[in-house]
Amino acid sequence: MCGIVGYIGNREASPILLEGLKRLEYRGYDSAGVSTVATGKLLMHKRSGKINELERELTMRGMPGTLGIGHTRWATHGEPNSENAHPHDDCTGKIALIHNGIIENYSVLKKELQAKGHHFKTQTDTETLVHLIEEFYKENGLLEKAVRKALLLIKGTYGIAVICSDEPDTLITARNGSPIVLGIGNHEYFVASDVAAIAEHTCNVTYLDDNEMAVMHRENLVIKTIDDRPVEKRVEHVAFDLEKIEKGGYHHFMLKEIMEQPQTIFDSMRGRLVEEEGTAKLGGIQHELESLLYARRVLLSACGTSWHAALIGEYMIEEYVRIPVEVEYASEFRYRDPILDRDTVVIVISQSGETADTLAAVREAKRKRAKVFGICNVVGSSIARETDAGIYLHAGPEIGVASTKAFTSQVTVLSLMTLLLARMSSMSSSRGREIVQELKILPEKVKQILNAHKDIEQIAAKYANKQNFLYLGRGYNFPVALEGALKLKEISYIHAEGYPAAEMKHGPIALIDDNMPVVFIATKDSSYEKIISNIEEVRARKGKVIAIATEGDDFIKTKADHTIYIPPTLEFLTPILTIIPLQLLAYYIAVKRGCDVDQPRNLAKSVTVE
Ligand code: G6P
Repeated sequence: MCGIVGYIGNREASPILLEGLKRLEYRGYDSAGVSTVATGKLLMHKRSGKINELERELTMRGMPGTLGIGHTRWATHGEPNSENAHPHDDCTGKIALIHNGIIENYSVLKKELQAKGHHFKTQTDTETLVHLIEEFYKENGLLEKAVRKALLLIKGTYGIAVICSDEPDTLITARNGSPIVLGIGNHEYFVASDVAAIAEHTCNVTYLDDNEMAVMHRENLVIKTIDDRPVEKRVEHVAFDLEKIEKGGYHHFMLKEIMEQPQTIFDSMRGRLVEEEGTAKLGGIQHELESLLYARRVLLSACGTSWHAALIGEYMIEEYVRIPVEVEYASEFRYRDPILDRDTVVIVISQSGETADTLAAVREAKRKRAKVFGICNVVGSSIARETDAGIYLHAGPEIGVASTKAFTSQVTVLSLMTLLLARMSSMSSSRGREIVQELKILPEKVKQILNAHKDIEQIAAKYANKQNFLYLGRGYNFPVALEGALKLKEISYIHAEGYPAAEMKHGPIALIDDNMPVVFIATKDSSYEKIISNIEEVRARKGKVIAIATEGDDFIKTKADHTIYIPPTLEFLTPILTIIPLQLLAYYIAVKRGCDVDQPRNLAKSVTVE
């Protein structure tokens, strides 16, 4: 979703801003722009399309200045064209603003500003804010005061950065609901919506909290609340490996991240398995373990792929820990006055830790006094900071918009949590040790599946021209069917649906004919016989069957048109293996169809608007 970069120092700003924006490309965007201040003038350039094109134009025209802001936009209000791209400037052409989030009361404010003579050039909500700042700036001639006053009138969410040609030594940023991180250099400061954008310049960062505003001059930085009260901030040292956000020889980040999974799954377990005791150790939730163990009810909440991981978590916790679990989309949870009490534990799952609905769910749950746990990948993200306890995935930065390695790490972490809780209640040490042994060899098994990628590529080539797909699974593999279908639609734009296999009879079966590929997750587990019957039902209607099966199952070959094998594992861990061929299938189909896998249309990596 939208990205913010800002710079104040003694170096040329525009190359720093463009590099930073490129690091944020993965979040998804449709237009980009940069603004600097040079010799008392505000310079601005913006356009729809890719940053490379913006960069080419800037190189030709030149864009001097040691103070500047840059933005990638993911359209919410107004179509993705160059006018609506950020930065936006005021009527005087002196003030420039970039904004992530949504200004909810913009239409009322816009009318008032228009009545005062302000001229609007765009359809965006953001432009209202820059005119509002202009209005106060006219009154007091101080950018900081003007921004503060304007923000106090705003309803909605924002992460902003503002510059003004009259104040060439001032960069202002503020946050309410959209992440902002400040980078502290030597006589220079950086602002970004994501630490990846500034990591090559400094490891010293501080994160703004909601309702905070930072004013940076080349020689100092002051952070206060929006209503001008002092706040204490800590400077944190982030270790960020830039190599991890490069493609490393792969055509796409998505493929790189799929292939990384033996390592990322291992990293999610590193130091967390206690072999002799057959349990797990999870430092981040240790201090709140009792509330989890004695919870009368667990509520898992998330969005997208993370929601699918939550569904698997439900099955795991109910089976092994015997606590009733519910799973709810964060967007629904936050608005429907959920019943929570002190005996309910809420666990949110989010790769980015910034998804607006999930963050709002955290706040709603805390407001209602529930204990809130977080399972996040991005260290220091808003959700990670606002939850009472949490577990990091340690999967490294995920750049591909279609989430892959984060999913397998989420399921791995959920299995560790389940193991830990089960061992503290009714699970025996021998069963615990068996699970630990199996977890240890999972990365090897994932590697084995990845080695068969060429076979999956061939199947993909056969079906890449289809318009519809069905994905079916049962038990632990029902959420995998949902996730497999989601992967395909996200990047190949093929309509795909996931269902619990038995539900097929209640509707989707009407779609099946000889043109319909049906992907079955048909591993040798407690529902194997049942799923074979479902396969028969599809074959009887001439549907094409692609089966994900357990190694050694020769029988299934007589039933399926294509079989992709995975090594055997414990039933509750199968999703970590069965999803791998489905990720590869979606990837290769999308590539065959010529789709831009890393920048799928209309999607954003981190959805920071509700
Ligand atoms: C977006 C991404 C999905 C992701 C979802 C939830 O829609 O495109 O890949 O699953 O957000 O994101 P989170 O960061 O909260 O896991």
